Amino acid sequence: MGPIAQLVELPAHNRMVRGSNPLGPTNKFAASVRLYFYRGADMIIIKNKEQIDGIRKASIIAANTLKYIEPFIVEGVNTEQLNQLCHDFMVQNNAIPATLNYHGFPKSICSSINNVVCHGIPSIKDVLKNGDIINIDVTAIHEGYFGDCSKTYIVGKANPKITEFVSITETAMNLAIKALKPGNLLSIIGSTIQTYVEQFSYSVVRDYGGHGVGLHFHEDPHVSHFHNKENEIILKKGMIFTVEPMINMSKNWRVVTSKKDGWTVRTKDKSLSAQFEHTVLITSDSYEILTLPDEG
Ligand code: MF3
Ligand code: CO
Ligand code: CO
Repeated sequence: MGPIAQLVELPAHNRMVRGSNPLGPTNKFAASVRLYFYRGADMIIIKNKEQIDGIRKASIIAANTLKYIEPFIVEGVNTEQLNQLCHDFMVQNNAIPATLNYHGFPKSICSSINNVVCHGIPSIKDVLKNGDIINIDVTAIHEGYFGDCSKTYIVGKANPKITEFVSITETAMNLAIKALKPGNLLSIIGSTIQTYVEQFSYSVVRDYGGHGVGLHFHEDPHVSHFHNKENEIILKKGMIFTVEPMINMSKNWRVVTSKKDGWTVRTKDKSLSAQFEHTVLITSDSYEILTLPDEG
């Protein structure tokens, strides 16, 4: 046991926005998303060395899971099979899948195909077809620490326009991460991503964002992937959060949650949506991506 974590209080403007509703007073859904997912302690946990080392290990297991699953993502496989493989891989690596039973989520990964934005539930009914895109989102708990990452894979060979869309989404995440360092504002993430992807007439999903992570699955702060004053928070060494933009292949950023299962989030206009996610640490002079797989 090391010293207890240091805390940075969230600035008032961030708390206010979190408590209110960025999509307008009639959109009850957006408010419930926040209540549901964020701890709402109004504190950003600054991690110490021991915690960082633990979160790094959990993050590597999550990243190794994404690398392990890649060759299994082929035409004809169903997402329940991918779920089982990822589950077993995490358990073999002394990790617990964080999504399993999280607020009732029934599976060990999220699998989001084509127009599914996020929180897709693995199922034997979801069989991959050539040209599909699928995001696999893995969060591993190892020795009590959390690491969270995701990737969008292409099944077989997709239309070049789709391949380009997926690669632009990954570049958007990477450009935002490269802008991180102590003293910069967290909102540099949203402005970087929004400016970049809107050039291609894509849009940034607003209802979901990144989050602090490490000692819990979802910690403060909420990380916006579009430009938002809420994220005018000065970055400090020892902060750990995810950067996980969800990008729609159209100008419409609106999403709809399934009434049937209460989880699956789809684009409103049925356009494709892609996502990449890393867990990132703010270091003394820049950043470190924690969710990188082992070499080899
Ligand atoms: N891993 C997702 C994230 O990036 C959260 C999934 S929560 C679940 O934050 F309940 F849908 F599994
Ligand atoms: Co996340
Ligand atoms: Co995730």
